[in-house]
Amino acid sequence: MRTSIVFLSALATSVMGANSTTYTLPAGFNVGLVDSSERSAWCSAQRNTCPDICQDGTRLNSCDSNTLDFSCVCADGSTPDVTPFKQTVPFFVCQANYGQCINSHPDDAEGQRTCKKNAVCGSKNATEEADSSSSSTTTAASTTLAMATSTDSTASQTSSVAAASATTSNPAVALGGDMTKYSTGFMAGLMFVAARMIL
Ligand SMILES: *[C@@H]1O[C@H](CO)[C@@H](O)[C@H](O)[C@H]1NC(C)=O
Ligand SMILES: *[C@@H]1O[C@H](CO)[C@@H](O)[C@H](O)[C@H]1NC(C)=O
Repeated sequence: MRTSIVFLSALATSVMGANSTTYTLPAGFNVGLVDSSERSAWCSAQRNTCPDICQDGTRLNSCDSNTLDFSCVCADGSTPDVTPFKQTVPFFVCQANYGQCINSHPDDAEGQRTCKKNAVCGSKNATEEADSSSSSTTTAASTTLAMATSTDSTASQTSSVAAASATTSNPAVALGGDMTKYSTGFMAGLMFVAARMIL
């Protein structure tokens, strides 16, 4: 019984987001210059890309479109580095930061060269990498999913519907895959807890 309590608290800690990505906005980047609809689109894309990077489901997948804080934690508890991938917050910020850098160095060839040198933005396509691996199984755990989603982050959840059209991947398919994978991982966690309680 003690084991299960310890395990439960460990699970709760990880589900509640003890681990989030350590990404911080680049120094000098002014998030206030990005309008809110664009920030929402970035978050929507981020949330669609996280499951493709994780591939076996996500434990945390959130993005706050005000601050651009995001969490992408895979079902196995790992926190992947999303920076090398296109369609992630770091990718969009990197591109926008380049634009801001150029704008703040008018008539300054040397400064602009430095902007360019620092603008190494993600280039990997997470959709392609996910498609080349196995497909996910489906479960009917939509009730569990709703509960899990509402507790998986204190950050505000961006409405994917509003900004979905701005993403290049098929949002419906990506979202469906996300939910399916998430609930599978979550159910597996619950079943593991249940098994530990019985033992
Ligand atoms: C979570 O963070 C802790 C402390 O930073 C670290 O030891 C652990 O490996 C991380 N776990 C995951 C799943 O990333
Ligand atoms: C990623 O690859 C898929 C499949 O080839 C393609 O449809 C999509 O446009 C690509 N996305 C990006 C952002 O390049």
